[in-house]
Amino acid sequence: MQIEAIEPPLALLAEVTHRCPLQCPYCSNPVQLRGASGELTTAEWLRVLTAAAAIGVLQIHFSGGEPTARVDLPELVRHAVSTGLYTNLITSGVLLDQRRVDILAEAGLDHVQISFQDAEDVNGDRIAGMSGAQKKKREVSAIIRRAGLPLTVNLVVHRQNLERLPEMLDMSVALGASRIEVAHVQYYGWALANRDALLPSRAQLDRATEAVDAARARLAGAVVIDYVVPDYYAHLPKACMGGWGRRFLTVTPTGLVLPCHAAESLPGFDFPSVRDWPLGEIWRSSDAFNRFRGTAWMPEPCVTCDRREIDWGGCRCQAFALTGNAAATDPACGRSPDHGLLDVAVREAEGEPGPFVYRRIGGKAEAAG
Ligand code: SF4
Ligand code: FES
Repeated sequence: MQIEAIEPPLALLAEVTHRCPLQCPYCSNPVQLRGASGELTTAEWLRVLTAAAAIGVLQIHFSGGEPTARVDLPELVRHAVSTGLYTNLITSGVLLDQRRVDILAEAGLDHVQISFQDAEDVNGDRIAGMSGAQKKKREVSAIIRRAGLPLTVNLVVHRQNLERLPEMLDMSVALGASRIEVAHVQYYGWALANRDALLPSRAQLDRATEAVDAARARLAGAVVIDYVVPDYYAHLPKACMGGWGRRFLTVTPTGLVLPCHAAESLPGFDFPSVRDWPLGEIWRSSDAFNRFRGTAWMPEPCVTCDRREIDWGGCRCQAFALTGNAAATDPACGRSPDHGLLDVAVREAEGEPGPFVYRRIGGKAEAAG
């Protein structure tokens, strides 16, 4: 792809910290988490936000870890708003209260997305690895709606909560969500370590799809429901990130700029830092963004496939996680020579799920049933 053909990015995912009070076993953060000491300073984040707006980014998604673990979040939101960026907060909600939500609303925050682990408190708290998390999330959701902020509820589903998807959808509506995202776990990063405990069966998936279809019919015109099906049962891959280096960029807590949030799992990259390079130059000219941009890098069968500019060869991180080769066709594709690997993974996950492997920054991984 020629440099001249590169469009500006649509959105920037600002992972302002890896710190988080939850321990979700499907966390998309890298296996090696960074502590607070190496995080970008407030002044550095303000420069990133200014640069993002200048190169054409329209939306900023404050994420983590848990982004509200940073006390300067309102300052970052206020600055992003002043540069014309649409601001979205992706949060577990457990560190928020009335005062903090009011401050964020006053700073101009446009939207909040809050994640739930279940509709049922005991299992939700178990999955999150935090006692009282579910109750707190419901309280904070109500505070967010009372503050007049639009709310998206994010439901990450897997074999250990999927049976309650109808209740989770009802709960989201009762909380006042205008949008619900039902997202099956993606198996890279920490989620890969827990794949056998998380991968649903085909029967579970079919029941979940029926529940989503029924809710969509019932809630048409009132609530939007996004549904991401699990790649392990797919025959066509998703256009991950809308294509590598085409729509999105991620800035990590320490300032590395990535084409997707999981790209640090890929070997052979030297990801550039906002501490060393202008953001626009990274987007346009860095090897990290150009390596899998466009179609020139593609192997067969992608390079001669009529879908190559629809799904862009699928997900690089999934291709690496399953085949050891980030430049392979995503095995989620039925035309991939590695497609059979997904059937193997599904068979391996049959039977009783094993215990979750939890982790904490600086702490040892621990298993729990
Ligand atoms: Fe997409 Fe490649 Fe599969 Fe074609 S062969 S559908 S481009 S992943
Ligand atoms: Fe990295 Fe799909 S998650 S390319």
